[in-house]
Amino acid sequence: MTEERLMDKIIDVCLRRGFISPAAEIYGGVGGFYEYGPLGTLMMQKIIDLWRQIFVLDDDRVYEIAGSVLLPESVFQASGHLDSFEDPQVQCKSCKSMFRADEIISDAVNIKAEGLPLEELDKIVEDNNIKCQKCQGDLDKAKQFNLMFKAEVGSTGGINAYLRPETAQNIFINFKRLAGFMRNKLPFGIAQVGSAFRNEISPRNFILRVREFQQMEIEMFYDPDKENEHEHYEEIREIEVNLVTREMQEKGWTKPLKITIEEGLEKKHIPNQYMAFFMAMETEMLKVLGIPEDVFWFRHMQDHEAPHYSAGNYDLEVDLSIGHMEIIGNALRTDYDLQKHAKASGTSYEIVADNKKIVPHVAEPSLGVGRILYAILEKCYQDDGRGWTWFKFPSTIAPLEVAVFPLMKKDGLAEYAYDLHHDLKDAGYLSFYDVSGKIGKRYARADEIGIPYCVTIDYDSLKEGSVTIRDRDTMKQIRVPVEDLEVVIGELSEGEAKFEEFGDFLP
Ligand code: GAP
Repeated sequence: MTEERLMDKIIDVCLRRGFISPAAEIYGGVGGFYEYGPLGTLMMQKIIDLWRQIFVLDDDRVYEIAGSVLLPESVFQASGHLDSFEDPQVQCKSCKSMFRADEIISDAVNIKAEGLPLEELDKIVEDNNIKCQKCQGDLDKAKQFNLMFKAEVGSTGGINAYLRPETAQNIFINFKRLAGFMRNKLPFGIAQVGSAFRNEISPRNFILRVREFQQMEIEMFYDPDKENEHEHYEEIREIEVNLVTREMQEKGWTKPLKITIEEGLEKKHIPNQYMAFFMAMETEMLKVLGIPEDVFWFRHMQDHEAPHYSAGNYDLEVDLSIGHMEIIGNALRTDYDLQKHAKASGTSYEIVADNKKIVPHVAEPSLGVGRILYAILEKCYQDDGRGWTWFKFPSTIAPLEVAVFPLMKKDGLAEYAYDLHHDLKDAGYLSFYDVSGKIGKRYARADEIGIPYCVTIDYDSLKEGSVTIRDRDTMKQIRVPVEDLEVVIGELSEGEAKFEEFGDFLP
């Protein structure tokens, strides 16, 4: 299988089976906008729920808000996005197609050019004789393009506004009230999940570079003098993370450094305990979601790659079939945003901490739901000669957790199975009922969308009150009493027991 084709195969399943499809598809769509179908939405919700549990609900000092997606120009003037939130673009002199300069360079000559100044980009294009990807025409000089979507507010217009390019700004501009809610006591975190919009020059790679996407962000406010006094440090100290330091990048790295959080801090590879906490928990979260830890790492971005507000970025990158892809950005935003908004709005953002007045510093983990979802799809995709493809989703992320099939529609089997399906739903499982087609076909359809367990009702079920459970990963089957079904599915889904512990495999 070639690398490019893996993404195409995944797109094919996503379109056919209700995961993800282009927005306004019947009208030809617009590049960079996608809609999540029934299964994509269930998965997206599971990713958000897991993030919320780990990062918000488990931490007494973190609360979530829901801010406005459209904000006035003054916000982005102060935050620096109007001046600096831009990507370099080059236009073809012949066919007028637009390309992101660093991407057309990396496609043509495999040079990492993100964040380089315009003159350097022009020089690389010229030195390597890089041409238009569509018509081979000559490329014009690179120009900066601001990525924000502009809107006018009100019936007479006149009030300029922008769709937020990150959810973070709502939190900074509402800091005074939020700090008041937290009784002006540091540290505290404010979280938010929601849409962000970027007018990407060349949206590409399915849902990996789009113009509307969901972010899950936390702005963690802390006293910089206490950056190594994180409340939960003892719990994460021994967790191992994969790192790619700046030094490794300069020397040309092939394998990330596996290191405990404690060692990473001691060696100054990780800047402080707040960043360390997020790196440790993100590692744990991705593993739960079915992304093996040997395919991702935190890269300390070079200065020229980091966003304008960041004093250091430690981005989580995954090794995907299309190359390395950032799926989480971890930024040390210092007091940059709070100072900018305090000054521009004339609002005091000082907090009294240990008898001194300070503007808190911020550590920010920013997780892209779509990119995490794509990484899960790719890492769970299986094409192993079964005759159909399947997803090896852990139950934690599987859009449907169990399927119930009557062997036949007649003789009361369908009614029995339907009731059982609803019992499972009532018990909290995402259950799916399928009555049509041969049983083998139904197993294949369930595998294709990654349902971990299929329960079949046959004549013995009516006579003896037992059902078969088929395990997606091994295709083996066992028979269990129907009254044990919920417990068995529960223990299997939670990983508390192995399939074979519940019975002998059926021939
Ligand atoms: N508030 C910080 C921030 O927005 P970022 O690195 O620009 O940082 C964070 O974005 C995450 O948002 C990325 O790691 C990625 O998962 C997601 N993201 C950013 N741009 C995206 C795009 N055009 N398409 C899909 N996801 C995107």
